[in-house]
Amino acid sequence: SQPLRLGIAGLGTVGVGVVRIIRKQAALIEARTGRPVTITAVSARSRDKDRGVTLSGYAWEDDPVALAKRDDVDVFVELMGGDEGPAKDATEAALASGKDVVTANKALLAIHGQALAEQAEAAGCLIRYEAAVAGGIPVIKALTESLAGNEITRVMGVMNGTCNYILTRMEETGNGYNSLFEEAEALGYLEADPNLDVGGIDAAHKLAILSSIAFGTQVDFDGIEIEGIQRVSIDDIQAAANMGYKIKLLGVAQMTGRGLEQRMQPCLVPDSSPLGQLAGGTNMIVLEGDAIGQIVLRGPGAGEGPTASAVLSDICDIARGWHGPVFGQKAATLASATAALSQRP
Ligand code: NDP
Ligand code: HSE
Repeated sequence: SQPLRLGIAGLGTVGVGVVRIIRKQAALIEARTGRPVTITAVSARSRDKDRGVTLSGYAWEDDPVALAKRDDVDVFVELMGGDEGPAKDATEAALASGKDVVTANKALLAIHGQALAEQAEAAGCLIRYEAAVAGGIPVIKALTESLAGNEITRVMGVMNGTCNYILTRMEETGNGYNSLFEEAEALGYLEADPNLDVGGIDAAHKLAILSSIAFGTQVDFDGIEIEGIQRVSIDDIQAAANMGYKIKLLGVAQMTGRGLEQRMQPCLVPDSSPLGQLAGGTNMIVLEGDAIGQIVLRGPGAGEGPTASAVLSDICDIARGWHGPVFGQKAATLASATAALSQRP
């Protein structure tokens, strides 16, 4: 059968991880999808950087938009990041050229998700983004597919690995969060702008995406009340510990009589609870539905291997011929549900 040909833009932590998996697991991926998956072209800012992985055999494009439009690319894999600039331009160009898109870019989807979903659906293209929320945890699939028969009542959890790592290390070392950035960076957890991590914004991007799927509304990042971890001090952490609590950056989204409520803020959680026991870059997502009750998904929320693993799940789905709307329901349905909500008294 015909190979599925990828164009990968972004060869940082996640992009290199994806190249590594495809090089190592080509036979396994073909056996599982029934189709070879190949990389035809790649793009990054610097052509000369040693990335610790061979790129021989792949065409190079300086311009991600040119990569997205190439005739020998079936799927555009966007791993650059950022809600504007090349990530947005190239994603739109890929969709305009009739190509499916796989991305790990929660910022892009949280800000422009509805418009991109409308563009994708009009063009008959897919946007897949398992890696965008909670790294290696398959939470997008859980919500869009496994829980499709449930009315979702609440989504909550710890969804930023950097913050969880920093808070855990603050407890362990007694050091302030500024001194722990380098450790988180070495693990590949940080966003290009780490203020997005510690400011709670990255986690809020993720919550906005989960809310859209869970509650059938347009992504509404602006509707989230956000407080980051910058003001959490060692004294706060010690005071919490003395009372038997930990401090976690916790996101909660639920539909109430007043509409969709979404919050991302540092919270006290009992030390002995599953959330209290969550250490390092681990994430935990709690999903509640009318039929299933509650399920808890826990796993690595950031870093090369886990995030690349999630990107590969999307690529394999496309190779198998998966089809479906971007946020679990058609974009037009999300728009009308959002409009109806805004008209509630
Ligand atoms: P990195 O900063 O490690 O890598 C970004 C890559 O994009 C680099 O290769 C960079 O090129 C390239 N790039 C940036 N700007 C351009 C441009 N204008 N033209 C071409 N290439 C460009 O980021 P990550 O790999 O960590 O993250 C990538 C995406 O994945 C982001 O959206 C992030 O939010 C998301 N993500 C990351 C996770 C993680 O744990 N790291 C987890 C889940 C999602 P060069 O190398 O030459 O500078
Ligand atoms: N910077 C993000 C985090 C990467 O720390 O969780 C994973 O989305």
